Amino acid sequence: MLKSCVVIVSLYVLVEAGYHIIPGSLPYDGYHDLHLPHDPPLYPTYASVPHTNFKCDDKPYGYYADVDTGCQAYHICNGKLIASFLCTNGTLFNEQFQVCDQFYNVRCGSPYIDL
Ligand SMILES: *[C@@H]1O[C@H](CO)[C@@H](O)[C@H](O)[C@H]1NC(C)=O
Repeated sequence: MLKSCVVIVSLYVLVEAGYHIIPGSLPYDGYHDLHLPHDPPLYPTYASVPHTNFKCDDKPYGYYADVDTGCQAYHICNGKLIASFLCTNGTLFNEQFQVCDQFYNVRCGSPYIDL
């Protein structure tokens, strides 16, 4: 009884430490750590869309992340700027998929690359 408890506790400790002990299981996901709360948070927390240098100029019609806000704000351009919005706290505008996405999925200001 004591022996099996020790085995179970050891397995638990190994799993918590991120060891890959079960053949065929997924590798340890380091991004999982980012789901833990941080103070200050790892993402911008605007209450409203701030004024930034973002300009639509002659961009084609579409939704654009505002890099000056760390991509929490995004704008709709149709010739001139027509509307601005904020993603909720913890999310950032992902231009690749045109959605507010979890902050750890968005590399604000970088070209599209899979994380
Ligand atoms: C984000 O959190 C901050 C700080 O708690 C709060 O002031 C702000 O209103 C929140 N923004 C949104 C869009 O909910």
